[in-house]
Amino acid sequence: MDFKLSVEDILQIKCDLLVLGRFEGEAIKGLIKKVDDALAGALSRNSREEKFSGELGKGVMINTLGKIGAKRVLLAGLGKKPKFSSDVLRKVGIFTAKRAKLISEEIAFSFPVNGKKGNTSALIEGVMLGNYEFNKYKTNDKKWEGIKNVQFVSSGIRETNFKEELKFANIISESTNFARDLVNEPPVFLTPTKLSEIAQEVANKGKLECIIFGREELKKKGMGGLLAVSSGSDEPPRFIHLTYKPKGSIRKTVAIVGKGITFDSGGLCIKPRDSMRTMKGDMSGAACVLGVMKAISRLSLPIKVHGLISATENMPGGRAYKPDDVIRALNGKTIEVIDTDAEGRIVLSDALSYAVELKADEIVDLATLTGACIVALGDYTAGLMGNDERLINRIIKAAKLAGEKIWQLPMDDELRKDIESDIADVKNVGSRWGGAITAAMFLEKFVGDTPWVHLDIAGPAFIEKGGDWYPKGGTGFGVRTIVKYLLER
Ligand code: BES
Ligand code: MN
Ligand code: ZN
Repeated sequence: MDFKLSVEDILQIKCDLLVLGRFEGEAIKGLIKKVDDALAGALSRNSREEKFSGELGKGVMINTLGKIGAKRVLLAGLGKKPKFSSDVLRKVGIFTAKRAKLISEEIAFSFPVNGKKGNTSALIEGVMLGNYEFNKYKTNDKKWEGIKNVQFVSSGIRETNFKEELKFANIISESTNFARDLVNEPPVFLTPTKLSEIAQEVANKGKLECIIFGREELKKKGMGGLLAVSSGSDEPPRFIHLTYKPKGSIRKTVAIVGKGITFDSGGLCIKPRDSMRTMKGDMSGAACVLGVMKAISRLSLPIKVHGLISATENMPGGRAYKPDDVIRALNGKTIEVIDTDAEGRIVLSDALSYAVELKADEIVDLATLTGACIVALGDYTAGLMGNDERLINRIIKAAKLAGEKIWQLPMDDELRKDIESDIADVKNVGSRWGGAITAAMFLEKFVGDTPWVHLDIAGPAFIEKGGDWYPKGGTGFGVRTIVKYLLER
């Protein structure tokens, strides 16, 4: 996709789609009025008929029938003026790209973006995210090749800022779309081995260090959690460790940890058929980690970042781990298996212990961990839990800037007894109630005193029906938040 600035008469611009913006409740005036007049009042008439008055996520599109240079005009809602922000611009970008689909390759935005830092990049980001489609496996349909050119006409954006913002938007959206692709790939393609090969490619391209463990190394190291979960599958497990090291001095070390279950059948505690569908998405945490590592290899940060992934299938093969088994994790703690379908926390126990061994100053994990979290918060919001209020607040702030919805759940001490085991240090399942919280409490046992945040992304990582601001399937949730968090100063 090509982006450029231009100065042209709005009525002369040659493009498939001219995009104008209207604040909620604002009268048709200024540039919009100029276009409306040239179209014999079609914009205002359609707005009235469709009861559109500038709400975010709505808009009217009309064919200009050759009356002006642009073939179509989209009057997009900017929402309420006091609520205007870079996130609104991102959403306008997504909305526009979705509406442009199949009919518009050349787009011109003509509304003031204003020079506030991050505004231009958010709008560009939105266009690139909204343009996303996973069509690799479609052979017959005519594939939508996407928007080709975007120009910002008399937008008030300065050339120097524009270059920087464009670069940032490219990095963010390419990494997010990359994570989406990984999630959308079928499990027959995206095995733990394949995931590790892709991680190696990310490392090679971005000049990151890359260590990959197979079964032998996992045994030697004592990563009993990942080994146990992988034992029911014919696909070998992989533990993936990428490292970004800054050129100059290191201000701190952060570990980003992802759950990489490339398919979750539930294991011996097998899932009913309807719940098994979409379980290719159970590696969304891992996809996010790779997206983040890809992004930061293109940014210069003064911090060391470890990307850690526990990758395996969860299958009910003849050697599968069983309810009643006791497993020893990398940090020496023992886990009683109650339910083999609570496998995410088990593979994460090793990855979190490993992050502690690396002496990370802060740990953030992302995992499609519990259905309970979706019951609590719905499809569009991730659950957040942690052991350090300062780190928690920084992640919440980063998510706000990134336009991703995250909500903190309480680590209620009274629930802790739910995961006490009679024969081991901890058991892998509590009761049904507060399932997202007891899952986080399980993870907490493996982070020691390190400040840590857990994001349960079971809802927003994979949205079967899509959302206003998300495509169907993999969403790449978390990439934007984590990059913002790493960039904060
Ligand atoms: N991967 C699932 C969680 C999940 C469910 C993610 C639905 C996305 C959509 C996880 O491994 C799992 O099976 N969790 C169980 C835990 C239970 C056995 C305590 C669950 O949520 O039912
Ligand atoms: Mn499971
Ligand atoms: Zn799972």
